[in-house]
Amino acid sequence: MSVPALEVRGVTRDYHVGGGLFGRSRVVHALKGIDLTLERGKTLAIVGESGCGKSTLARIIAMIDPPTSGTLAIDGMPIDITAGRVTAEQRRKVQMVFQNPYGSLNPRQKVGNIITEPLVLNTTKSAAECRQLAMDMLVKVGLSAVHYNRYPHMFSGGQRQRIAIARALILNPQLLVLDEPVSALDLSVQAQILNLLRDLQDEFGLTYVFVSHDLSVVRYIADEVMVMYYGEVVEHRSRDAIFAGPEHSYTKTLFAATPRADVDSIRARLAAKAAG
Ligand SMILES: Nc1ncnc2c1ncn2[C@@H]1O[C@H](COP(=O)(O)OP(=O)(O)O)[C@@H](O)[C@H]1O
Ligand SMILES: [Mg+2]
Repeated sequence: MSVPALEVRGVTRDYHVGGGLFGRSRVVHALKGIDLTLERGKTLAIVGESGCGKSTLARIIAMIDPPTSGTLAIDGMPIDITAGRVTAEQRRKVQMVFQNPYGSLNPRQKVGNIITEPLVLNTTKSAAECRQLAMDMLVKVGLSAVHYNRYPHMFSGGQRQRIAIARALILNPQLLVLDEPVSALDLSVQAQILNLLRDLQDEFGLTYVFVSHDLSVVRYIADEVMVMYYGEVVEHRSRDAIFAGPEHSYTKTLFAATPRADVDSIRARLAAKAAG
């Protein structure tokens, strides 16, 4: 059996909130024991209502935040984020793309510097090599080498997300964690970015963890779907199985909340596909 791209075992995360001078502190159990295994080259969509713990889990998988307990393995290698024991090589393998590309891009940095920065910090490549790699990557994400010397504010939302994707890919990672990457974009632009992500996945053999609250996006991009509810996984099945008929009562509610026409058209398309 091949080594999974990602393994998450018993991951929990508590937040301590409040506890100011007069406030009473309390604990939010944002994740209550998450298990998942994801094969290489696949896309796992994580869905669920706001506040169910999607972003918390995404940040833990991306090694931005530590879990309270539990373990993580990338490519079969255990990750120990506490005590700074994550190696540079492990960090390189996992990159994150956020919802708001403007917030995640430094407005004072030129696009070229934004994309080459990870190369400059993590490799010994020459300035000329970094520049060339960044220019090639700009083309791969549907921009152009002439954009190298421009600033983020000169781009549209969709183009900025392309810049963020270029930066995420420049160190040649294996796993991309995308937290609502198209939610801030117009519908037509969403489709373009989703197509780009599919193309890049094929080209680079990438594995995606894709957080979204939008089931039509999920249906388009995902191989499997994991439904979360208050910090727990309530259902994790293939995309086709879950859209054909959600099992868990919460998943049914979640799917019922999306416009009827949408769910019907999804079902019809899946049925047509299955009938072949
Ligand atoms: N930095 C934080 N401090 C305190 N509580 C947090 C923090 N981040 C998230 N939470 C809480 O953890 C829970 C899960 O949040 P989050 O992971 O952002 O959910 P989602 O991305 O699904 O909307 C929520 O109850 C949220 O209020
Ligand atoms: Mg979130």
